[in-house]
Parts: sequence; structure tokens; C-alpha cells
Amino acid sequence: MSDPTQVLTANGIVKAFAQGSNAISVLQGISLHVAAGERVAIVGRSGSGKSTLLHLLAGLDEADAGRITISGETMTPASNEARTTLRRQYMGFVYQQHHLLPEFTALENVALPLRLNGASQHDAQAQSADLLERVGLGHRLRHIPGELSGGERQRVAVARALIHAPKLVLADEPTGNLDATSAAELMSLMVELSESRSVAFLVVTHDASMLHQFDRVLTLTDGALSEADSLG
Ligand SMILES: Nc1ncnc2c1ncn2[C@@H]1O[C@H](COP(=O)(O)OP(=O)(O)OP(=O)(O)O)[C@@H](O)[C@H]1O
Ligand SMILES: [Mg+2]
Repeated sequence: MSDPTQVLTANGIVKAFAQGSNAISVLQGISLHVAAGERVAIVGRSGSGKSTLLHLLAGLDEADAGRITISGETMTPASNEARTTLRRQYMGFVYQQHHLLPEFTALENVALPLRLNGASQHDAQAQSADLLERVGLGHRLRHIPGELSGGERQRVAVARALIHAPKLVLADEPTGNLDATSAAELMSLMVELSESRSVAFLVVTHDASMLHQFDRVLTLTDGALSEADSLG
């Protein structure tokens, strides 16, 4: 049964990795719901499984057990192909190290999700130019990633994650490689876009100074998620 106010639901997510004859149990029955437009942070020690969880929620990898829905549609269990289709339709992903295509300009990188969803080159590039303008990069449309600063690259990556009007953006330590000022600017940008476009954000972060900008903070420990009592 799907609840239309929940953009993401995950129930009983289990994941282990095989290591020789051992299995490393990483996630041991994770449940998590994110409402439309909500901003949720995930914190936890290095190696606690935050990236693993984000990859499963994005359908980039498959859980051993459990059920995930995105916008009411079943992401897991589902075939690889079905997961890719859902991801392209409903989700944006921001990697820690931007993962922009090095030979594509900022404009082409941001236009790519629209092209993959069938938009014409003209429309995709026009929308991409508008959004890059909005994130303060109107003067950098034709630059390739190697010609941009770290903060500019992450702003391009955020624009790419948002260009196809996703319901949910998943971000894995998007400010991890940025100086404090660029990190704060990127966070404000995500907050502004989440509010103006009603996009939900689920963000893994190590940065305690960002946490007050989230509606909820969840901690991943020993394969389980718990909600912090306060953001203090
Ligand atoms: N493909 C894999 N094969 C085997 N073990 C893996 C694999 N991917 C992750 N792991 C293990 O799973 C655990 C969780 O990894 P994960 O990358 O999710 O941690 P994390 O919380 O994102 O850490 P960090 O904060 O350092 O990014 C780690 O112990 C890691 O070694
Ligand atoms: Mg990680």
C-alpha cells in the first residue's frame, strides 16, 4: 500500500557483503520514510554503511531483503532495468566527488539526465542553462569540470541532480571536499531548491555545522538507524 505523502519508504533493508568465506553484515533491518519536500540528514562513523544505504535507496545496488518504494512505486524488489527507470524518473544523486563527465561542459553535464529521459538537445540545453544561471554559474556554461573550482563542480553536480525535477535528491557527503564557505553556500543552495521546488533531500554528512538546516537527523550505528532526540 502506498502513501502519497511519502516520497521514499524503506522497510527491513538488509545488506551483507561476502568477504572470502565470511559475510560482512552492514545493514540489519533499516526502515526509513521521507516525506515530500523533507530534508533528512544521515550521520554515522566511517564504515557504518551510509554509502551502502544510499546506493540501495537509489537502486544502484540490490538489498538482500526488504522493500523500497519511491513515489509509491516499487524500487526493491525489482529488476535492474526497472530500478534504473525509476531512478531516472524520480531521483537525483549527488556524489561526494561530483562524478561529472570530464569531457562534457557544465551545460552538457546538467542536460544529460533530460536527454536520457528523451528531451531534445535544444530543450535540454535551454533548461540546463536556466538552472546553471540559478545556481550562479551562468558565466561558466561552456567550462569542462577541469576548468571549474571544487565548489563550482559541486554546484554543477547539484544542478544535474535537480534538472529533471526529481521528487528526491540523495547526496553522499556533497560538501565533503569543500572549504567551509563553499560548503555553507552549497547547503544553502540545496535548502533553497528544496523549498522552491518541493524536492526532498536525504543527505549523508559529516558536517555538524549543517545539521540545523535539516528537518531530521538520523544516526546509523551497528546496522540500524535511530533518530536523534534533538539537533543540538
Ligand atoms: N562492495 C563491497 N564489498 C565488500 N565490502 C564492502 C563493499 N562496499 C562496502 N563494504 C564494506 O561495508 C562497510 C560500509 O561501507 P560504506 O561505504 O557504506 O561506509 P560509509 O558509512 O559510507 O563510510 P564513509 O563514512 O567512510 O564513507 C565497510 O566496512 C566497507 O568495507
Ligand atoms: Mg561513504
